Amino acid sequence: MKLIGTEASQILASRIADELGTAVVDVKFSRFPDGELYVCAGGLDDEMVIVGSIVDSDSLVQLLLLIDACEGSHNILVVPYMGYARQDKRFKAGEPISARAVALAISRGADACITVNIHDRKVNSYFGISATDVSLAADIGAHIKTMDLDDPLILAPDDGAAAFAETVAAVGNWDCDHLDKTRISGDEVSMAPKNLCAANRSVVIVDDIISTGGTISTAAGMLASQGARDVHAACVHGVFTTGAYARLKAAGIKEIVCSDTIERGCSQYSAALRIAGALGR
Ligand code: R5P
Repeated sequence: MKLIGTEASQILASRIADELGTAVVDVKFSRFPDGELYVCAGGLDDEMVIVGSIVDSDSLVQLLLLIDACEGSHNILVVPYMGYARQDKRFKAGEPISARAVALAISRGADACITVNIHDRKVNSYFGISATDVSLAADIGAHIKTMDLDDPLILAPDDGAAAFAETVAAVGNWDCDHLDKTRISGDEVSMAPKNLCAANRSVVIVDDIISTGGTISTAAGMLASQGARDVHAACVHGVFTTGAYARLKAAGIKEIVCSDTIERGCSQYSAALRIAGALGR
């Protein structure tokens, strides 16, 4: 077995290879003069693990090209962050189910797939191959332990992330709640923990994705006005689009951390061990 990764996932692919005690394949990535992407892989194996987070259109195309380059091998696909997964249904007529379109496209040429905290597990059923999701909730809990916070309150930004937050909180037997939104007027909402009080507490907001940071920065401001001692944010997928990291810092968040499903300067925990486990090694 050998590992091969797209440019967006070269560090994580190498970490998984290290966990498995196997080699990572050297790949040449370039572009044709017209901008089209080109890949050329070094020595392949008859069993390949192809690792590629879909962070933009180019990374999706690189993944498709690597899958095709591995034709003839038994291929396990690893999609640590699956962009397009949030458009998992037709919200209005005329829209695609983008998650299904992408899942089907990358299934061709692969024998099975592993995802990490996919936005909704129903997306796994869109693949044309067996697809399994692994969770980093416990790894986020392990990281929070290292932060040395005094009796932190773990908060999900909404009801949908409550189960994820509970798994994080179980690691340290910490209190856990989710934020509840109350509409004050047409353009004003207030957010507060549904059941617990944030006053004088260190709060860690946990979520699968931080994208624009809009949800968490609004929550952080409100938690500060409710007397929270300090607010931290931890997620699996640090998308951080449109200046989200700076937006969160400007909103007063003390520490913002994510995993290496998207390789960032603030990636503090790795998905490598969980993925290696799912590969059965
Ligand atoms: C939504 O369902 C997700 O779990 C995240 O809460 C969302 O993607 C975060 O988006 P943003 O950072 O743009 O508020």
